Amino acid sequence: MTFTRRKMLVGMAGVVALGVVGGGARYWLGRPADPVTHDYELIAAPADIELVAGAKTPAWCYGGQAPGVELRARQGDWLRVRFINHLPEPTTIHWHGIRLPLNMDGVPYVSQLPVMPGESFDYLFQVHDAGSFWYHPHTTSAGQLGRGLVGPLIVEEREPSGFRHERTLSLKNWHVDKQGAFTDFSVPREAARAGTPGVLSTVNGEHAPTLELPAGQVVRLRILNVTNTLTYRLNLSDGQARIYAIDGHPILPRPLGKEYWLGPGMRIDLALKVPAVGEHISLRNGPLRLATLTSVATAETEGDWPAPLPANPVAEPDLEKAETLRFNFEWAGTLSADTGPTGAFTFWQINGQAWDINDKTCADRPIATLQRDGHYIFELRNLSQYQHPIHLHGMTFKVISSNRKRIDPWFTDTYLLGKNETARIALVADNPGVWMFHCHVIDHMETGLMAAIEVV
Ligand code: C2O
Ligand code: CU
Ligand code: CU
Repeated sequence: MTFTRRKMLVGMAGVVALGVVGGGARYWLGRPADPVTHDYELIAAPADIELVAGAKTPAWCYGGQAPGVELRARQGDWLRVRFINHLPEPTTIHWHGIRLPLNMDGVPYVSQLPVMPGESFDYLFQVHDAGSFWYHPHTTSAGQLGRGLVGPLIVEEREPSGFRHERTLSLKNWHVDKQGAFTDFSVPREAARAGTPGVLSTVNGEHAPTLELPAGQVVRLRILNVTNTLTYRLNLSDGQARIYAIDGHPILPRPLGKEYWLGPGMRIDLALKVPAVGEHISLRNGPLRLATLTSVATAETEGDWPAPLPANPVAEPDLEKAETLRFNFEWAGTLSADTGPTGAFTFWQINGQAWDINDKTCADRPIATLQRDGHYIFELRNLSQYQHPIHLHGMTFKVISSNRKRIDPWFTDTYLLGKNETARIALVADNPGVWMFHCHVIDHMETGLMAAIEVV
C-alpha cells in the first residue's frame, strides 16, 4: 500500500497509452464524439473572493470560485476530470459519497500520491448512483477545505426525475475575521471538543443571499453542508417542503418537519413548493437566517409533487447472515495533551486507536478486515459528549437502528452519531480496497478520529 514515485509515473503512462489505444485522444479533443462522457478540466488555485463586504479573502478555489464549480454527470456515465494543482502545496481530490475504485478515491498514500504544485492528475470513474455529492481534498484538510476547496458534484437521474427546477445550495461556515482575513482553521482546544467553529455562514459563497424561485413551482433544493465543523439545524420559516433524498440516496418523500440536522459532509434534497409571487421564505440554521427565498412570477402552470426518486443500485445487506463489528468512538486526550511522535495532536480514537495524520503508514494497519461481498453490521458507539458525522469511503451503508431515535432505514455515506448514541449500520462489502472511515468534523478527523477498513 505504500506508494512510490515510480508507481505514479507508471500510472500516468498508463493513461497516455489508454488515450492512444482506446480512442481516448479523441475523447480529450472534444465532447461530441462521446456525448455520454463528462469531461472537465479543473484547476485549484488561490484567488481573492469577497465574503465580507468590501474586503478580500485570499481563498483557494476550484475553477476560480469557492465553493468550487459545480460538476455534473448523468447516472451510469463516466466522469473525467483532469485536475491541475496551482496551489502552493500538495493536494488530492476525494469524491465524497461516490462508489468508485480505490485508485480514484483521492486519499494520499492510499489511492494515489499527492498531486504536487504544478502537477496534474486525471480522475476517471463511472457514477453508479444519482444524487447530490461533493468533492474536496484529503490532504491538510482543515486548511484546504477551510480556504474554500469544496464543491458540489451532481449526478442526474438516468431518466427525467419529474423536477423541472432545481438549485444547489452549498452551505459553508468560514474562519474569517471582520477584515476577511482567515483565522485559525483548527485550534487544539476546540478540536478536542466540538471542532473549531467558523463565524461567517454563506450559501454558495454569499452571506445571507436572496434567491429567486418560480412561484407555484416545486423546486428541488440540493442542500450540501461543505463546512469543516458546523452541524446546521435546517428549517424553513414557511412553505411546504418534503425530503426526497438524504446524502444522495432517495427516501420515500416525507415532510421536512421542524428541523433537520445536517452535519459536515451531509446533504439533503428537498422539494419546496414555492408560494405565490412576492412571498418570502427564510432558510435558517436554528434561528439564524442563511438565505431568503423569494417567489417570482413565472408563465409556467403550477407544479405538483414529483414521484419519489428511483432507488440507487446499492446492494441490500442481509441482516440475518451479517456479521457484527463494533466501533467505539472515544475522546482520548487531556486538554494539555502532548503531541504524538510526529507532532500531531491525538484527542480522539476508534477502538483504542488514534489515527496520526502525519504518519503515512496508518492505512497499512486497518482497524477491520471485511471479506469481499460479505454482509456486515457495524455497531457505532459514541462514548463522547460531542456528535460525530461518521463517514465511510467506497461503499454506501444502510442505517438500521439507534438507541436514541426511531429509524426508518435509509442508505447513506455519512451518519450523524449523536452524543452517547449507539447506532447500527449495515452494508455489503462489495468494493475491494482500503477505505477511510472517519468523522467528518475535520479537526476531529485530523486529531485521531479516522481509521482504515480493508475489503479483501
Ligand atoms: Cu468527505 Cu474522507 O471524506
Ligand atoms: Cu468520502
Ligand atoms: Cu467527530
